[in-house]
Amino acid sequence: MKDIFSISRDKISVAPSLLAADFRHLSEEVERVEKAGAEVLHLDIMDGHFVPNISFGALVVKALRPASRMFFDAHLMISEPLRYAPDFVAAGADGVTFHVETERDPANTARELRKLGCAVGVSLKPGTPVEAVMPLLPLVDLVLVMSVEPGFGGQKFMPEVLPKATAIRREADRLGLKLHLEIDGGIDGGTVAAAAAAGVNMMVAGTAVFRHPDGAAAAIAALREAEVIK
Ligand code: DX5
Ligand code: ZN
Repeated sequence: MKDIFSISRDKISVAPSLLAADFRHLSEEVERVEKAGAEVLHLDIMDGHFVPNISFGALVVKALRPASRMFFDAHLMISEPLRYAPDFVAAGADGVTFHVETERDPANTARELRKLGCAVGVSLKPGTPVEAVMPLLPLVDLVLVMSVEPGFGGQKFMPEVLPKATAIRREADRLGLKLHLEIDGGIDGGTVAAAAAAGVNMMVAGTAVFRHPDGAAAAIAALREAEVIK
């Protein structure tokens, strides 16, 4: 299992979202973005219940694991994350991120996920107040701020979520916690700087990487140019 803290928090890392890949050639697509410099592969798991779309499950993650040495970042957009998380870890996920909205006792969820030995992340939807994740900061390695409504790739970035990222970064620093701050949805060359200025260091990008007309390497390099402001 890869250590999430082998990934620097002081510079931008790019996590291409597999959702935007060519699903006819998934393993080649994974190899393509890894060669292009991505250190994280973002895996969007959707159950048709928590979000109005279904993507793929642990079988696909397992099939792709031998194709890559990237950190596999499983974003569980599913109800009952604890029921399925062990399958994703067994399939090769290095980190599992659950949605705070799915759980009555998210602190317990974070502690249970910790027992799986993977990195633990918590995510919040655009309409969820930042206070929902603040008590969880000492329990997680990563906070994922959604900058679109989860469920679909290719949506427009919502800048109004950025104050939540700033608040999380500030509170984590105040508590002396090291955690990754990730953002997901509508990140591209035009929006990345604002996210970085809010303290985000890990950029999920589907469309902007997999479908960039100049190729994935150029896309990733452009996203990395932004400076993380701490
Ligand atoms: C949305 C997913 C995102 C999405 C990002 O539910 O969590 O990861 O695929 O796609 P882009 O970068 O195209 O907005
Ligand atoms: Zn995602």
